[in-house]
Amino acid sequence: MDSEVPMEKALKERIIRLDGKNTAYLIRVNSTGHLENLYYGKRLRHDATLEPLMQNRSVGLGTSVGYDEQNPLLILDAACLETSTPGKGDFRTPAVVVEYDNGMTTLDFVYNSHRIVKGKPPIKGLLAQSYVEKDEEAVTLQIQLRDKKLPLVLQMYYTMFTDCDVIAKTCILTNGTKESITIRNMASLQLDLPDSNWDVVSFDGAWARERSVNRRRLQAGITEISSTCGVSSAFHNPAIFLERPDCTATKGECYAFNLIYSGNHRQIIEKTPYSMTRFQTGINPQGFSWVLGPGREFTAPEAVMTYSFTGNATASTNMHSFVNNHIVRGAWKYRQRPVLCNNWEATYFNFSEDRIIDLAKSAYDLGVELFVLDDGWFGQRDNDTTSLGDWFVNTKKLPGGLTHLADNIHKIGLLFGIWVEPEMISRLSRLYDRHPDWAIMIPGRKPSVGRNQFILDLTRKEVRDYLVSAMSEVFRLSKADYVKWDMNRVFSDLYSTNGFFMGEFGHRYVQGLYDVMGRLVKEFPNILFEGCASGGNRFDLGILCFMPQIWTSDNSDACCRTSIQGGTSYAYPVSTMGAHVSASPNHQTLRKTDIESRFNVAAFGVLGYEMDLGALNAHEKQIVKGQIEFYKKHRALLQFGRFYRLSEGEDNRVRWVVANTDFSEMLVLDFQILNQSNISQEILRIPFARPEFDYAVETRPQKIPISQFGSLINLISPVQVKADGSLRKIIDKNVMLNSESERRVVSGDVLAYSGIRLSPQYSGTGFSLDTRVLGDFGSRIYHIFRVES
Ligand code: GLA
Repeated sequence: MDSEVPMEKALKERIIRLDGKNTAYLIRVNSTGHLENLYYGKRLRHDATLEPLMQNRSVGLGTSVGYDEQNPLLILDAACLETSTPGKGDFRTPAVVVEYDNGMTTLDFVYNSHRIVKGKPPIKGLLAQSYVEKDEEAVTLQIQLRDKKLPLVLQMYYTMFTDCDVIAKTCILTNGTKESITIRNMASLQLDLPDSNWDVVSFDGAWARERSVNRRRLQAGITEISSTCGVSSAFHNPAIFLERPDCTATKGECYAFNLIYSGNHRQIIEKTPYSMTRFQTGINPQGFSWVLGPGREFTAPEAVMTYSFTGNATASTNMHSFVNNHIVRGAWKYRQRPVLCNNWEATYFNFSEDRIIDLAKSAYDLGVELFVLDDGWFGQRDNDTTSLGDWFVNTKKLPGGLTHLADNIHKIGLLFGIWVEPEMISRLSRLYDRHPDWAIMIPGRKPSVGRNQFILDLTRKEVRDYLVSAMSEVFRLSKADYVKWDMNRVFSDLYSTNGFFMGEFGHRYVQGLYDVMGRLVKEFPNILFEGCASGGNRFDLGILCFMPQIWTSDNSDACCRTSIQGGTSYAYPVSTMGAHVSASPNHQTLRKTDIESRFNVAAFGVLGYEMDLGALNAHEKQIVKGQIEFYKKHRALLQFGRFYRLSEGEDNRVRWVVANTDFSEMLVLDFQILNQSNISQEILRIPFARPEFDYAVETRPQKIPISQFGSLINLISPVQVKADGSLRKIIDKNVMLNSESERRVVSGDVLAYSGIRLSPQYSGTGFSLDTRVLGDFGSRIYHIFRVES
């Protein structure tokens, strides 16, 4: 280890092997020096026979191009390659495309040397990247390739994080020529798989319906998932799963990929003419080109991948541990996140200091720990047409200023957090009056708009320096314990006065953003930062390198959240997902849901309340108090436990589980989408339960509003209750039923192999104290824990 392996020796050894806890990655240096992927899967024996993994090349393939006259049977188009370039017979999507002066693009990278080092040396030039705390956590393979003709060097780094079986990969291209070359594409990771029997799973959507799960059979040709709007986007997240068609949560093979990047990305899944699969991920080449001067190097963002032979749940939990251990860093790593209350949906722009203090006091009384002041506190910000960039307090709303407010919030006993949208500028702002050229616009062309605002040109150092100092001032004055960093429009009219080649704009912006975030996070190490971009428009591993949590979606409707949080959970852990209980009817969908169900879904995230808690009636306040107590008691498990999706809408249900490491304690969400009448038996089966344990299964006690029974109340009421009468209103406000209380002790084998039969749901035929009343969008949380038999 830790030594350079010369070409001769490597060619003799031919195989480079990276082992994780359960997986192995094998690369073969073939006789022409090309790197072939020999194997990526379940860990093999050390003495495994590798010969059968090698392609038999004893006959040619019709109309194919052989590598050279000495090796006519080496058909790059049909090989599993670690990287690929155009021009030598590989007709699939190339990983690296470089155009030199005369427009030529042919390249041919072959092995030069490699070394394997313990740990993960930081990669130069990457502002957002994975890391280890101790060298024992990972092993890194560094391979150097050279073009056969030109002095171009391609270095590929693979880090195997042994604890979680995740591999991070990046590529660095160095231009050793005397001319500038233009990079047209540089994928971070390519994985060629020997067959094409895969389903592609992507996480797509739009504002307020981010990351819903889309699964389809891999078809001939190219499936492309990408973003071109400048951010990783709610349209298509960079995370991708490739699953065998029979893969389930708990069984079958699957690969998962993600990218540590917040800008335009592209994922290619290509079913090739020879029925192989090529996967690639990296910066989206559309709109990207990078001029690489002589002697300069370009580093692609890191991509990550994992493999599971025990279903997609393991791939997800591998990714979760990777994010918690090797992406999230600083004071909030593995630290329990406070329960917050945010004023946005309670007040929008319309608030005063007194109103904020009232909201904060009622939040504190119910157990909230952090109060967050959202948009509207600065400049003349009474609506979204103005003031972004004017980061000084609006004294009409907050006459005492930020420090005064922060002190008062702290005096109540709460932490204080503040909303900012640093990357933006409104035309109606003092900042725009002073620096109109800081807004991204093309001189002489009318700019397009988004939410009445423009983006600051973070490719410029003076803009970044200004932002760091303006934000530092806000954070200091507000004594911020928490910051919500928002970003509410995407890119158009790309142009910078900086004078670089404009194809570089998107990537330079992302680098600029990471520079600003990095400097602020360093200066304020104890602040808990929450990323946000109109909800989850920039939910990615790049942001998570700086901010341990992200506002998952502006849509806080409990039913929609089962799909949004469920989709997000494929690649991101619960600890990263901001999840709030908001008012009913919901402000995004106008859907009515019960406050208990809203909590049950939000509890499988970083919990917050985004409503006027002071306006709740006494019953509801008691309910919220109980919810927060429950959450705090189980917070470590909910935020950092192993998360599994048991059901994703099949049979009208969403079921999630968080479990501790030895499965002696679990919390289960059981969410019903629509109610049905005349339902027979329902079963709660937890395949992860340990057969050798005995478990208690308890329902979290909930309250059921009597209003749910409508006019059926007259079957038991001694007096007639009229639908719109005042008696009805009094009863609805004051009478709540206790939910069924189920407590059983069950052996783990029964729970795992068959499951427990739940009490019947209300289904139109009768009611007893055992009856589960869920209704549409109703849910329960079950607490399952080991008991001594
Ligand atoms: C975005 C955020 C919201 C809220 C508003 C304020 O939409 O996602 O949570 O902060 O901005 O303008």
